Amino acid sequence: MNELVEKINELKKQKKAVILAHCYQNAEIDEVADFVGDSLYLSQKANETDAEIIVFAGVYFMAQTAKLLSPDKKVLLPRLESGCRMADMIDLEQVREFKSKHPNIPVICYINSTAEVKSECDMCCTSSNAVKIVKTMQERDGVDEVLFLPDTYLGKWVEQQLGNVKIITYPGFCPTHLQIKPKDILEARKKYPDAKVLAHPECHQEVTKLADYVGSTTGIMKYAIESDEKQFIIATEKGVVDRLKRDYPEKEFILIKESIICPNMKWHTLQDIYNALEKEQHEITVDEEIAKKAVTCINRMLEISK
Ligand code: 13P
Ligand code: SF4
Repeated sequence: MNELVEKINELKKQKKAVILAHCYQNAEIDEVADFVGDSLYLSQKANETDAEIIVFAGVYFMAQTAKLLSPDKKVLLPRLESGCRMADMIDLEQVREFKSKHPNIPVICYINSTAEVKSECDMCCTSSNAVKIVKTMQERDGVDEVLFLPDTYLGKWVEQQLGNVKIITYPGFCPTHLQIKPKDILEARKKYPDAKVLAHPECHQEVTKLADYVGSTTGIMKYAIESDEKQFIIATEKGVVDRLKRDYPEKEFILIKESIICPNMKWHTLQDIYNALEKEQHEITVDEEIAKKAVTCINRMLEISK
């Protein structure tokens, strides 16, 4: 075993720490991670863990969400530069302005948002439960119109799936997923006519409408693993393809374009994780008043996603 991996595992034991890693991380991180998955899975794990320290190999809002759900634990983000560019497209003032333009309509925030933004919202969702969350609000609360932020494409995709709810979206987007163009899908289909196309709902709708399956990172992986098909064109971040190739060598996975990488997800290295554990850096904290409101919004989602 790599010496650094051994040292990290030793520190983990000593400090009663757990490492949560998003599947867009560099695949080497999996060697030390206790849990690897999408944002919903990782927020559930952060909620359940009895570790004393959580090291989050992901982007800032994910570590912040872990802190909201485990306020008594020390939550560490190995590299502070790792912010989600979509989450940074809306701040507290902008969410208030968005709400004031559309008063008295429930507000759903994608988990890719800051604690401050979440504190102004009624309900949270991730890409894997967004349809279920809006459907529950429709059926349980009689809601037929919602505000959705920050991702306009996820919001519009949910609207299309349900068909009978109006979703007013904030104009945020993921710069990584928006690099995927319809012509990329058409060209890949021409080159691999038997392959199934699997896409993330953060992609433009002109892209998702060309896919055979649209789902969260875990959804995409599950579809590929369980399918009898052998060849898949993957329209999401490279980390998903790296893991599928590593774990299922008998199938073929084609990344739609080599440039589909979230640069901020790739900051963390094994050395950064070691440093984070050793020096107990960089600790994430959230203002108490903000945390109280933001956690309510996340807990409402977790309740529905049980
Ligand atoms: P998941 O909810 O699929 O983990 O996606 C998070 C994300 O940031 C995708 O870009
Ligand atoms: Fe944010 Fe996009 Fe990176 Fe996901 S892929 S963390 S939405 S910038």
